[in-house]
Amino acid sequence: MSGLTHIAVLPKEVLENLISTQCKVFVDATVGGAGHALGVLDRNRKLHFIGIDRDQEALDRAEKTLERYSDRVTLLRGNFRDLKEMLHGIGVSSIDGILFDLGISSYQLAGGRGFSFKDDEELDMRMDTRDVLTAYEIVNSYRQDEIARILYEYGEEWQSRKIAKAIFDRRKKDRIRTARELADIILAVKKKTGKIHPATKTFQALRIAVNDELASLAGGMDAAVDLLSPGGRIGVITFHSLEDRMVKQRFRSDEALTVLTRKAIKPGIEEIRSNPRSRSAKLRIAEKI
Ligand SMILES: C[S@@+](CC[C@H](N)C(=O)[O-])C[C@H]1O[C@@H](n2cnc3c(N)ncnc32)[C@H](O)[C@@H]1O
Repeated sequence: MSGLTHIAVLPKEVLENLISTQCKVFVDATVGGAGHALGVLDRNRKLHFIGIDRDQEALDRAEKTLERYSDRVTLLRGNFRDLKEMLHGIGVSSIDGILFDLGISSYQLAGGRGFSFKDDEELDMRMDTRDVLTAYEIVNSYRQDEIARILYEYGEEWQSRKIAKAIFDRRKKDRIRTARELADIILAVKKKTGKIHPATKTFQALRIAVNDELASLAGGMDAAVDLLSPGGRIGVITFHSLEDRMVKQRFRSDEALTVLTRKAIKPGIEEIRSNPRSRSAKLRIAEKI
């Protein structure tokens, strides 16, 4: 993965399963670097494209990338959990397809907000810089047991208590300011096994907590299903098991949906080779009855 470009994950599979000739209004709830967006706009030259992101930098980039399609594109800033209100605000009450490509983009990872444990920048991790809560705040002011709970629940980190204690002990001496400082604290108490960095799960957990990602996903999927027209499709790309379980259960338990992916669609070897970030991606699709 290059830090400077974001390569869309499962691009062919998204287009083949979500974009038909009948699709008139399509929402990309996570427009990000506009990789999927370009494919969507090229595949169906009549549809209107609504791109949403909570990160203003992502929207600015998407606006430039999609300039030549500007007459068919509307870009909106906000959390996709407020999808209904956002679309009602522009007079849209029904949609034919929607994509959620969760997590952060390579631009955000390289963007100096402390998303990466290699980062020497302040621990921030907000996707929307208007939000108040930062990773710095959690790490430096939450109770030890509360930090352990976040690491366990959102990171599935089984060494959560040990890491929370190490964070707490360090805090008694000095504030933990940067992502790299936090990664070093974790490295000192958790051994490296295999290729995965010991801080990976902690960083995932903090990002989920800072951005309230699981509640946003639940609200976003509810709103999307309500807005879909009959025959319209919802696709969700996840990057970790917590989210994938939520999507699978949400689709299965809804009588208004037919699940089109009994098993999640995953990238092939070629895609993983050319875009390593795709290795944990899973795409699930359902159709509104
Ligand atoms: C993996 S990137 C999407 C990349 C995009 N599909 C592409 O091909 O370039 C995820 C994007 O979704 C945004 N995002 C994540 N959660 C969001 C939410 N709850 N509401 C709105 N945007 C969100 C992030 O800011 C990020 O830009």
